[in-house]
Amino acid sequence: MIIKSLELADFRNYENLKIEFSSGTNILYGDNAQGKTNILEAIYLAATTKSHKGSKDKEIISFGKEEGHIRTIIERDGAEYRVDMHLRKSKSKAIAIDSQKIRKASDLVGRCNVVFFSPEDLSIIKDGPAQRRRFMDMELCQLDQIYLENLAKYNKLIAERNKVLKDMFEHPENSVLLDVQDKQLLEYGSVIIKSRDRFIKDLCEIIDPIHNKLTGGREKLKIYYEPNVTVEEYEESLRKSRQKDIYLKQTTVGPHKDDFSFNVTTENVPEEIDIRKYGSQGQQRTASLSLKLSEIEIVKKSKKENPVLLLDDVLSELDSNRQNYLLNTIGNIQTIITCTGLDEFVNNRFEIDKVFRVVNGSIPEE
Ligand SMILES: Nc1ncnc2c1ncn2[C@@H]1O[C@H](COP(=O)(O)OP(=O)(O)OP(=O)(O)O)[C@@H](O)[C@H]1O
Ligand SMILES: [Mg+2]
Repeated sequence: MIIKSLELADFRNYENLKIEFSSGTNILYGDNAQGKTNILEAIYLAATTKSHKGSKDKEIISFGKEEGHIRTIIERDGAEYRVDMHLRKSKSKAIAIDSQKIRKASDLVGRCNVVFFSPEDLSIIKDGPAQRRRFMDMELCQLDQIYLENLAKYNKLIAERNKVLKDMFEHPENSVLLDVQDKQLLEYGSVIIKSRDRFIKDLCEIIDPIHNKLTGGREKLKIYYEPNVTVEEYEESLRKSRQKDIYLKQTTVGPHKDDFSFNVTTENVPEEIDIRKYGSQGQQRTASLSLKLSEIEIVKKSKKENPVLLLDDVLSELDSNRQNYLLNTIGNIQTIITCTGLDEFVNNRFEIDKVFRVVNGSIPEE
């Protein structure tokens, strides 16, 4: 799939902008704080309805404005369609596809798949489990509508349950409410656990050969899902932890506490090492890159189409070997890259199709 064009109005530091992208490699360059990442954020938002950094709509609308607009033209399977997104300060966003208003924002998700790669992604292995859960969710939501719906219901329910737990001392009669909520948690949570289990297994097969190549054959990488609780034990664990939950005023069991591990073997150390704890920094960064590259493959495999790749300032974070590997992988995928200077591309290691210079919320004609 290809993003043909993007139009913004009152979005972050853009009052008005129209860009037509090439179906190949696009570079957005410019000084710091000019609005390069904002453009990638708009594309990510138009594809997934969410900001890649979790910003709220009211933060994304230009300062002092009540609403903002994003319009994208997307080409998929030879057909074009237009997505209009209307961001509003005090209401949820409205979305139309080819002028037809859609009922829920989630109906848009999965029509256009994007892989967003930023320097923070390179520390996903060093970071805590929340970042790794976010990775699973961001990817699974794009691939699986059922997952997306169950996750939204699950998260809402956890917030509601925690509220009931907080009031339990004053309202012990609310324990019947907890009974009802627990039944629903089991239903939605089990879908999440099963989907994540399948996703990590698929990813494990895809990541190993990529990581092996990236490390010049030195390392084998396996990833394993670490559910906080299995589907089989979920009901009992939830029941057993009830008293503790009331005492701590929060839900301590369930997929909102999941993680997954990264395990490396080498010729010298044939037993698996959990690199979250014992990996060197370089090892962790390389495995993070392998994870991102696998994300591209997993979209290709399940959607039978290329995703759009958004690279936010990552090239400068990689040494030239890894840069080459990444750029070779891109192949014929539409890619939009941000960087502060064009130096990285000067030695012409790969083809650039279109270059845009971003200056203070606009792209002046050159
Ligand atoms: N809601 C908003 N309204 C207006 N301007 C905003 C809003 N949110 C952020 N900005 C502005 O957008 C600019 C940052 O844009 P962005 O993050 O895209 O920069 P960048 O070009 O990617 O910079 P860097 O090279 O440092 O990553 C900041 O100057 C910030 O003040
Ligand atoms: Mg930026």
